[in-house]
Amino acid sequence: MKLPSGLEPSQRRVDPFTWYETMRSTEPVRYDEERERWDVFRYDDVRRVLSDYETFSSAGLSDFDSFDVLGTVLVDENPPEHDRLRGVVDEFFQPGNLESLRSSVRSIVDEQLDRTLEDGPAIDAIGQLTAPVTVLTISRLLGIPREDWDTVKQWSDVMGGGGASESEDWKDAQRTFKEIREYIGTLLEERRGEDRDDVISAITSTEASENALSKEEQISFCIFLFLAGHSTTTHAAGSVLWTLAEENQYENLRDGKLDRELTFEESLRYRGPVQSLSGRHTTEEVELSGVTIPAGEQVTSWIGSANRDPEVFDDPEQFQPDRRANRHIAFGFGPHVCLGAPLARLEGDTILDAVTDRIQDIELAEESFDPEPMSWPLTYGLDSLPMRFYGM
Ligand code: HEM
Repeated sequence: MKLPSGLEPSQRRVDPFTWYETMRSTEPVRYDEERERWDVFRYDDVRRVLSDYETFSSAGLSDFDSFDVLGTVLVDENPPEHDRLRGVVDEFFQPGNLESLRSSVRSIVDEQLDRTLEDGPAIDAIGQLTAPVTVLTISRLLGIPREDWDTVKQWSDVMGGGGASESEDWKDAQRTFKEIREYIGTLLEERRGEDRDDVISAITSTEASENALSKEEQISFCIFLFLAGHSTTTHAAGSVLWTLAEENQYENLRDGKLDRELTFEESLRYRGPVQSLSGRHTTEEVELSGVTIPAGEQVTSWIGSANRDPEVFDDPEQFQPDRRANRHIAFGFGPHVCLGAPLARLEGDTILDAVTDRIQDIELAEESFDPEPMSWPLTYGLDSLPMRFYGM
């Protein structure tokens, strides 16, 4: 995805927030000739774009499928086809159902912390903690056997590095996608008829119903869940640790003076992993904030800007970990609102719980901290997060 020229200098990708502020007040809805698309920056307008699927259609467009190899996935469909696909796993992802996963996630976090702390206080909180935890959790959730988790981790690294088409990264990613399709296809075959507590079983168990997914749809769904679920959550969990250290709030969280859930929600508002969504086009002429967008145009919704709109949030540029009634839309809004939000929240909460149980203090390793933007512009966050973790 090409970034707007206002965001080109690398620092602005780490701190796009001043640019958002300018755009919200000067050009809240504007056409960018270079990218041949419209940008929408205000909270109410962004919510309208994301929820009014008849005017702003998702059909055939995706933010997530950067390699264009996934096939049919729910994020590219409008209701009612979208609802058929989502219905297959909707129940599985309800918070009550996921609660049974909490102890497995905690074991994964503890294992990563044990391994990391053996080498002393210096850690890369993303590379050594949040990335492995989210990849291993999504592997567990999908029902991938334990002995294959390391292979899945390697696949995820290749897919996360995807660049311009025809580059070596892109070719690697294409090859990896092929391998994953074959792997998931075999797993789906083997698991047919088994009653297990994982997504693959949930998907195969609906085969007899009228909403049944075809074999190809089943494979695409599993890969899509993997893609949508790991990089986002890696950076959501990384950014909360980054911000707590930066704002000197870790001690308050550790001592119970801050609520874990509120803190995580505020971090999602303040530095959410999905800053923008481009997968919408207009089906008819429409007016937003007094500007007319013609039919047939592509629209980018700037979620990160909406989450700092002063019309909705007091002191939006401040990280306030005790912010209540936080109406952020980091998980989107409307029919496509994130299916995995309960899982992301459970993972974020479990990581914060384990860290505050076991770690006396955290700090940014300033001497090696270089807030370079991620190589993949779709997800907001740091490639690595050098910190020091001091055990109890
Ligand atoms: C903090 C972490 C996460 C963030 C910020 C996030 C953000 C989002 C956003 C903004 C959308 C809306 C897309 C649109 O409107 O076009 C979305 C959709 C989706 N997300 Fe997440 N996500 C996260 C974690 C996860 C996880 C852990 C999973 C699953 C394992 C997941 C699965 C999905 C799926 C399946 C959709 C498509 C829903 C639909 O089209 O109905 N996400 N996510």
